[in-house]
Amino acid sequence: MDRTHRIALLGGDGIGPEVIAAGMTVLEAAGSRFGFRLDATELGWSSRRHLEEGAMMPPDAIQVLAGFDAIYLGAVGSPDVPDHETLWGLLLPIRQRFDQYVNLRPVRLLEGVASPLRGVGPGDIDMICVRENSEGEYSGVGGRVHRGMGHEVATQVDVFTRKGVERIVRYAFELAATRRGHVTSVTKSNAGRHAFVFWDEVVEEVAAEHPAVELDHVLVDAAAAFFVTRPERFDVVVGSNLFMDVLTDIGAAIQGGMGFSASANLNPDGGVPAMFEPVHGSAPDITGRGVANPTGAIWAGAMMLDHLGEGEAAAATMAALEAVLAAGVVRTRDAGGAATTEDLAAAVAAAVTG
Ligand code: IPM
Ligand code: MN
Repeated sequence: MDRTHRIALLGGDGIGPEVIAAGMTVLEAAGSRFGFRLDATELGWSSRRHLEEGAMMPPDAIQVLAGFDAIYLGAVGSPDVPDHETLWGLLLPIRQRFDQYVNLRPVRLLEGVASPLRGVGPGDIDMICVRENSEGEYSGVGGRVHRGMGHEVATQVDVFTRKGVERIVRYAFELAATRRGHVTSVTKSNAGRHAFVFWDEVVEEVAAEHPAVELDHVLVDAAAAFFVTRPERFDVVVGSNLFMDVLTDIGAAIQGGMGFSASANLNPDGGVPAMFEPVHGSAPDITGRGVANPTGAIWAGAMMLDHLGEGEAAAATMAALEAVLAAGVVRTRDAGGAATTEDLAAAVAAAVTG
């Protein structure tokens, strides 16, 4: 009998449902070729639900999600609801409650995709960003007092724990050992003299366990510049939640645009579902027009297959996506073509089934 994987679909807002539908077209094609079934349930949690029912997710959302093997998420964010409410109502609590402390973001320029960087081709951009995804600047600690008054105060406290830093840095070193053996740790320890100096010290301790992996420390401002001027110097890049949030948008830009970028939210300790999503947002300006680039969603879907133990299908999905992009015939609007979201998905699905 075919293997079955239970997938929670959270299309979410804007173009989210469109790119997730496109991704599912491809993943189902992979399933039919490699002999597994995706038992997918769209949960409908979104900003619309927030407007209609007062919350992004039901109270038992985490228990519901815990019953799935993986979560496939589109995008969250709507012009009708403040972003901090939608994100703290769905995306961020899922990452935190399942302790998905690794946010993995490959930044690779695929053949046939144009980077905005001059003279840069595939092979020049091939890094993987390891974003700390559970604490740091996203801990949610802080508060506001004396609202609206002249002496109003707001604090947003960055929280770094030894456990939190050690585990993400160790993940980065182990990943580098399977790649080109180089880790760049990104901080701002010249100005952030407490937390980032601590981060650097933990990195040195973990580095001592991995003598075969080369390490360098780069300040985040310099790293931002190097992503543009010398992207080839990066293999594995590890950093805090906010710094890597920002750097991975630069990463998406240099690999062809936001539509090309994928991510996985993982708890390597296991026992809880991982979550896979494109890096782009809900893009209200192009919602409902069928023109969104589903590449990031398809790529994230391939990462999900890999995570589900369908390594062969994952590799075939990536190969199909890369072949279609390299051929350059089916290109979405952001890549200078006229293909729709569905056109690209259909072409990749056809390439998967061969
Ligand atoms: C991302 C997004 C989110 C983040 C937002 C929507 C909260 O920008 O996944 O990169 O900052 O983590
Ligand atoms: Mn982001």
